[in-house]
Amino acid sequence: MTFKKINVDELEFSPTKAIGENWGILTGTAESGFNSMTVSWGSVGVLWNKPCVFAFVRPVRYTYEFMEQGEYFSLAIMPEGIHEKMAVFGSKSGRDVDKYKESGFTVLDEDGVKYPEEAETVFICKKIAAGDIKPEWFIDETIDGKNYPKKDYHRMYIGEILTVLKKD
Ligand SMILES: Cc1cc2nc3c(=O)[nH]c(=O)nc-3n(C[C@H](O)[C@H](O)[C@H](O)COP(=O)(O)O)c2cc1C
Repeated sequence: MTFKKINVDELEFSPTKAIGENWGILTGTAESGFNSMTVSWGSVGVLWNKPCVFAFVRPVRYTYEFMEQGEYFSLAIMPEGIHEKMAVFGSKSGRDVDKYKESGFTVLDEDGVKYPEEAETVFICKKIAAGDIKPEWFIDETIDGKNYPKKDYHRMYIGEILTVLKKD
């Protein structure tokens, strides 16, 4: 399977369906290694006049370590209907298992940034900002109780999109 580079403006997809319903695979890449996990929260858009990916990672995730240490990460948009095949990426930790081995997925890289070959579209990103979600931000008072009973607030990562890869 090969990928071709496309311009970010050529993208035609619904972020809510692609990330929220089909789920993405987020991969943090650092000098020490990399790790991938399922994400269903996040987006693709524009900030500071740059095309960006927005991803949200709880500090307990093994992926967090690579998102923190590394300068680059990828967000892979996965095809519809493969939740079962992706299961290990969202249910087990890379601390305990080799998720690629267990899922049968193949890891590829673009300029050293890892991503799964099974993706449909891949955003290769340079981390340009990060910050922890704070409960005082919430205007909707139901958010905290519904999503953070353990007070393990996500860290938000903003990545400038350097390259978009589309399955050929
Ligand atoms: C559908 C789905 C969506 C998820 N979305 C997120 C997310 O956006 N952020 C997050 O921190 N964890 C999310 N998770 C949880 C992680 O994928 C899961 O805890 C994973 O096993 C972490 O792996 P790691 O420890 O190897 O990083 C999601 C899990 C599933 C099943």
